[in-house]
Amino acid sequence: MLKIGILNGPNLNRLGIREPEIYGYETLNDLKHILVDESHRLDVDVDFFQSNHEGEMIDKIYEWADAGFFGMITNPGAYTHTSIALRDAISSTNLKNVEVHISNVYKREEFRHTSLTAPVSQGIISGLGFYGYVAALHYLAQANHK
Ligand code: DQA
Repeated sequence: MLKIGILNGPNLNRLGIREPEIYGYETLNDLKHILVDESHRLDVDVDFFQSNHEGEMIDKIYEWADAGFFGMITNPGAYTHTSIALRDAISSTNLKNVEVHISNVYKREEFRHTSLTAPVSQGIISGLGFYGYVAALHYLAQANHK
């Protein structure tokens, strides 16, 4: 079965509590349920991982790559704008990566307008809330069959 990793970065464990006017009231666990349900419909296998630590995120990417995963959905949180190390990890594997942001980063502070990880990703979705992850999962599920 096609394997897809879902990687959420720093502070996303606080979804539902953290700035709900920006990120909404749903939690990371709600997101997990939505994506696990969707994965059954799409007949793909998802592995869900969140960390507040850059190195742990990088280790997970290599673990997925070595385990033969097809792709991943990443929301690197603020590391999007700062982490060359994460970018290097994404670009050094064959995993197809879709970058997702819950908020529309282009409507927000200027420092959020630069993504170091977007240029090594297949595409990015920003501002569609949790639906962005669902859309990314659909994309990856069908990208495999082309
Ligand atoms: C975010 C946007 C980032 O700028 C921010 O640092 C986050 C969340 C989003 O999902 O909208 O932590 O990635």
